[in-house]
Amino acid sequence: MDHQLTLDSVDPEVAQLIRGEVERQEQGLEMIASENFVSRAVLEAMGSVLTNKYAEGYPGRRYYGGCEWVDQTEQLALDRVTQLFGADHANVQLHSGTQANMAAYLAVMQAGDTLLGMRLSHGGHLTHGSPVSASGRLFNAVQYGVDESSGLIDLDAVRDLARRNRPKVIIAGGSAYPRFVDFAGFAAVAREVDATLLVDMAHFAGLVAGGAYPSPVPHADIVTSTTHKTLRGPRGGFILCRSELAKAVDKQVFPGTQGGPLEHVIAAKAVAFREALQPSFKDYAAQVVANAKALAEALVERGYTLVSGGTDSHLLLLDLRPQGQTGKAAEEALGRAGIHVNKNTIPGDSQSPFVTSGLRIGTPALTTRGMDVPAMVRVAGFIDAVLRSPDEATIDRVGVEVRGMTAEYPLYLESATTAP
Ligand SMILES: Cc1ncc(COP(=O)(O)O)c(C=O)c1O
Repeated sequence: MDHQLTLDSVDPEVAQLIRGEVERQEQGLEMIASENFVSRAVLEAMGSVLTNKYAEGYPGRRYYGGCEWVDQTEQLALDRVTQLFGADHANVQLHSGTQANMAAYLAVMQAGDTLLGMRLSHGGHLTHGSPVSASGRLFNAVQYGVDESSGLIDLDAVRDLARRNRPKVIIAGGSAYPRFVDFAGFAAVAREVDATLLVDMAHFAGLVAGGAYPSPVPHADIVTSTTHKTLRGPRGGFILCRSELAKAVDKQVFPGTQGGPLEHVIAAKAVAFREALQPSFKDYAAQVVANAKALAEALVERGYTLVSGGTDSHLLLLDLRPQGQTGKAAEEALGRAGIHVNKNTIPGDSQSPFVTSGLRIGTPALTTRGMDVPAMVRVAGFIDAVLRSPDEATIDRVGVEVRGMTAEYPLYLESATTAP
């Protein structure tokens, strides 16, 4: 095997499929709230030879030799992420947000202990205690939701549940909650029942980094996150915590729940953290929120209903019940026009999670492409046209307009199949 050959010559099949995905990303309107587009610099670090290195342990304390370079990239990632969020301690080895949550739970709980998290169907995440996730099988999961009429978290209800169930861990943050979370309020509840407060900021970490969303770091004992959503890094996770919990967290990441760290991804995380430390990232985060608010307003003007009436963040949750449509049908119709969103349960949903009555729509990826408020008004017009008449002619017409619009906002250079 010749190590110098390009992907195109070794495996044209895979090369072609990657090219297809590049084209899909270039030509579509990516509005899945958890997705984003990394920079070429992040791609380059991620596609580097650091993937070849085993480095179990932590910088300066490894179980393998030859770690002098990856020690430095990992240390850079650690220094940058603690600076970015003003945290005492960080662990950047988590392969994903799910790994981050599991390791964090095991740092402060034993199997059978009680956790209190937000219900998936109300905007929480699988790893916050859903019965189909290890979090709901290993731990006794008690779930809070939102007030179904306001769509907002009812902290009094959270406090009641906490008093009755005395959880070891309370989790705040979720996947489909459009509003600010009252971290100080959650911290007060956690203190009252002597629980650890864990904030999962996977979705809004980039907004926190850019100052567009309140920071959970001063209030939470542990903060978990992904790196690939609003934070615009490679796929992965990290944990921040108070110094007292540092040892327990590190032990539960390795050797507790993971083996060798992905040092190429950690290097790419370091690059993304550097990007997020630049003043321009503040402008990005502010624009993501301004775009989400503009999109929300434009959809409401066109007669749509939003859970909680609007958004404070990068995402909105469309309630399609007044239109008599399902999330599944709407997602499919929009997808055929090149507008990528996801169906989502809404509070009080009578449809199954495979059908749903809602759509979750986000602005992080389009904002990375340079789209602004007037662009969001255009996009709202596309969404409205498809949802109003999801027939072939309309979908084709909107599809042409979508491709025309995305051509105005080029993403990667033509040759970008992988890192250059
Ligand atoms: C709030 C929240 N936590 C955790 C995760 C899990 O992240 P991953 O998909 O990287 O495991 C997600 C991803 O959707 C999420 O939204």
